[in-house]
This record gives sequence, C-alpha cells and structure tokens, in this order.
Amino acid sequence: MSHADLDAEILAIGRDLASAFPKASRRPLKALDDKAMDLASADADLKAALFRFVDVVPACRNLDDLARHLTGFLSEVEDHPPPIKAAMKMGNSKAGRTALGAASAAGVKHMAHRFIVGETPKDALPAFRQLWKRGILTSVDLLGEATITSAEAERYAQRCHDALDQLGAADKDPNLSVKITALTPLLKPDAPERGKQDAAPRVRALLQHAKEVGAHLHIDMESLDTREAVTDLVLELLAEPEFQDGPSAGVVLQAYLRDAGDLLDTILAGPRREHPLVIRLVKGAYWDHEVVDARQHGWSVPVFEEKAESDRLFESLTVRLLEARPLVKPAIASHNLRSVSHAIAQNRRLGAADDEVEFQVLRGLGDDLQDALAARGFKVRTYCPVGDLVAGMAYLVRRLLENTSNESFLLEMQNGADLERLLAAP
Ligand code: 2OP
Repeated sequence: MSHADLDAEILAIGRDLASAFPKASRRPLKALDDKAMDLASADADLKAALFRFVDVVPACRNLDDLARHLTGFLSEVEDHPPPIKAAMKMGNSKAGRTALGAASAAGVKHMAHRFIVGETPKDALPAFRQLWKRGILTSVDLLGEATITSAEAERYAQRCHDALDQLGAADKDPNLSVKITALTPLLKPDAPERGKQDAAPRVRALLQHAKEVGAHLHIDMESLDTREAVTDLVLELLAEPEFQDGPSAGVVLQAYLRDAGDLLDTILAGPRREHPLVIRLVKGAYWDHEVVDARQHGWSVPVFEEKAESDRLFESLTVRLLEARPLVKPAIASHNLRSVSHAIAQNRRLGAADDEVEFQVLRGLGDDLQDALAARGFKVRTYCPVGDLVAGMAYLVRRLLENTSNESFLLEMQNGADLERLLAAP
C-alpha cells in the first residue's frame, strides 16, 4: 500500500470515527469544565497558580486554609481576568474566604470526579457495570504512587488483593493496573536493586493472586528514573516457572521517549509464556517532569520536545507491535484520532480482524473516543482510577497538564480544528 493510499484510508477511518462521537450536548458538565480548562490554557501564570493550588488541596485542614492558599497563589498572577478578581476580593474577609474555600473545594472535587470513578472499587462498581453492559472493558487503577513507608506499601498491596477479589467476582475480563512506586518506598534511581528486591515479594503475590482469580495484571510505567528497574523486575518475575501458564500480564511503552524502540527490543527478547505479554503503547504522562528533571541535572532531555516526533515514533512502534503478534498483544492507548485511525488502518493492511487489536483510553479524557470506538465495534478498554483525592492528586495534575497543553489533540478537536489537518501524517 502506498503512503497516499494509507493516508486516504486513515482519513476515511478517522472521519467515520469522528462522526460516531457523541453530540456535545450529551455532556453539559464536561462543556463547563472545558471552558475552565480553556481559560487556564490561555494564561501560563494562571495555569501554574491553579496547579499549585490543586496540589495543596489535600493538605488543607479547612475551608479557610484552602481559600488562603488559593488567593495566595492567585496573587502571584499578573493581570487577573474578572472571575479571578472577584475571587481575590472574597479573600479579604473570613466569611468571604469560607465561601471561596467551599467553592474551590467543590470545584476540585467536581474536576476529580470526572477522572476518578469512585473512592473504592465497591463504590465504582455501578459505573463499571454501565460500561461493561455496553461492551466497554475496564482496567482499574487503584490510585497511589510514590509511597514513603513500608506500611503504606503493604496497605496498597492489600487494596490490590481486595480489588482482584472483587473484580474477579464481578467482571468477566478483570484487569488491574498497578504502579511499582506504590508497592515499595525504595525504588530510587541510585539503588535500583534495593527497590526491586523490596517490591518483588509484593508484585509476585499479586501475580499469584491474579492467576488465581483469572485477572490480568498490568504494570504501569512511570517516570524514566524507574523505567529500567520496573522493566527488569517484571520480566524477571514473569520468567519464574510458576508464571509460565498465567496470569496474563502487561507492561507499557512510552513513545515520547527517544529510545522507546530499544525498550521494545528488550521486552521482545523477554520470557516466552503461554499468555502473550500485553504491551500498552502510550505517548507518556510525565513529560513536564522529564523535561524539568533533565534540565536540573544538566542531562540531555530524554523525551521528544516536538509533539510530532512522539506521534511519528508512536506510529512506527504501532506497526512493530502489530507485526510482533502473536508474541505480544498490542493495546494502543491514545486520544489522538490520527494515531488511533493509523493503528486501525495498519491492522487491516496486515490482514488482521479489527478485534485483534485493543484500544485504551483514560476515563474523563477519552470518553467520546471510547463511545465512538465501541459504536463502531472496536475493542476498547477504559483506564478507570479508583481512590480518594489525596491519593489521586498527582494523577489529577497529570490529567490537567495534558488537558491544558496547547498541543492537546483533544483541545484542538474540541475547538473545531479541521479534521483533515488533524488526521494528516504527523
Ligand atoms: C498515569 O497515571 C495513566 O498511568 C497513567 O498518568
């Protein structure tokens, strides 16, 4: 197939998917959120102030405290738009601060509710059932990361065990995503072995339990400083004899990393098991962190600084993953309609059926794409975080950063950018 034919095919697939997106009016609250996000994206200082605020919310003891922080951060923003001027004025009195605190706490909770399904898997079950009924699969993520004590890691592991039991009983395709930094406080770049050794018994127990209940266990990838330790740990555990015939397990490949192709080589050379390894291909959620971290240390930046470069590597890794079947099962995780349409076209070009590739989206960001994919009969799995606001704050900040990035595909699409341009080769 020539490039021109492939691009024509991608354009047709993308147009068809776009026409299956739900009408905007179906999600009135989302439209409101999007307005707030637009406001934040347009002003870098305001955006920074809001992020800093969101970060301190869980630590605030009461509404007065919350409002003090909010007005404190906002006072660093020059040139306030009218709604912010009004907020600043409220900060001048105790009653005003209480009202402002209540409103902002409600705002953060409301925003979190868009991305976080419930506080516990039990709370979230009705929402999951709604998705399952429509043929949409889920991966449940228990919020938590960057654990500080062993007791915390133990508690997190226990929550995972309980969730596996609950999902094993309720879901016919139970799937849990975990982060290794939640399962050990010791995963530090200067002593990777210690972190691996500390995490290994907890991850092994989770693999055993997943196998017992017939669940899939997916190991999330986090920032680059833990990538090697996490990859080694997972590949070593999966090579153990007891895991030869299960459970189904998966890892993540982040296409914003310049050397993501090398990691794929390592993974493909990993253990051969009865269940093919699921590889979730993502762009990556720690971009801001990686850039700041590298600059602070004087290292070269490990992530692409041009979005188109990540998009191009994503496409070539998509093809490599599709061609590596049946050794691996690719899960294409993107909200970019071009990346998704490209994967569909390449999968068809290789002669595979549409359901031989899985798509994944994030709850609260990818809902429209999820609906469109499901409506067109594709296999789609939604990543659904569960937990409280304190555990979820880092996750929430990553979602807000994505959603307010000026390069966000979703933002462009929502602002009515021309479909043909959005679907063009990166
Ligand atoms: C994150 O936690 C979705 O795993 C990704 O940001």
